[in-house]
Amino acid sequence: MNKPSGFKFYYFKTLTSTNDEAKRLAKKGLDKIVVIAGKQTKGRGRFNREWASGLGGLYMTIVLKEENLDKVRYLTLIASLAVAKTIEKLTKLNALVKWPNDVLINNKKICGILTETISDNKNYALVGIGLNINQKNFNRHISNKAVSLKIITTKNHNIKKISKIIIDNFNSLYTYYKNKNYKKIIGIWKNCSHTLGKRVKVKTLSEVFVGEAVDVDKNCNLILRLDNGKLKKIVEGDIFTV
Ligand code: BTN
Repeated sequence: MNKPSGFKFYYFKTLTSTNDEAKRLAKKGLDKIVVIAGKQTKGRGRFNREWASGLGGLYMTIVLKEENLDKVRYLTLIASLAVAKTIEKLTKLNALVKWPNDVLINNKKICGILTETISDNKNYALVGIGLNINQKNFNRHISNKAVSLKIITTKNHNIKKISKIIIDNFNSLYTYYKNKNYKKIIGIWKNCSHTLGKRVKVKTLSEVFVGEAVDVDKNCNLILRLDNGKLKKIVEGDIFTV
């Protein structure tokens, strides 16, 4: 049994983005809260991409006051692991984490994480989680790479219940983060990784690299072994298996 998480939930019917509302509430000084919306009108992903946010998905942002934000990338790993663990517990499906911020089932994306930060006089991490739950289908641009729990299991799932389990799982892993046990987090992530050991193409904003994904370093960067044998540190980018 997980300990009670101590997180307070704030529910909204519609928001532009739960990350926007989370930012507003963080600026008021709230901490350890979870913002949830039934749908988003301007849901966003990494690189400001649109995140399909109609009814049926889970859209939530965890607000955490942090002393410093140096290790904030670990929160993205933790969130993806919390989602993968939750899916496995509920459905017995094999959910894997893809570097840096996705959860996949059968090579299709079911969840994305967008972690943003505020550093005014207080530091905040805003961990936004988008999980496809009861969507029947997706638009033609993403239908070949996105999937929902409903599409896989052919039944509806309780979004609120799932959000609570994710937060309990997140909270357990967050203890390692608070105790600066980053190695433990990387270890768990590696055990659940879709990325490591695969030959991948990495598209960064300006370059493309191909090689084997061999490791994740202590700053959560992906380490690639290029075809010439050299190791290349990837800080940000999209990964495609080749
Ligand atoms: C990605 O895969 O690029 C990240 C997607 C993150 C989507 C979630 S939905 C809840 C939160 N609010 C947003 O606007 N984005 C995140």
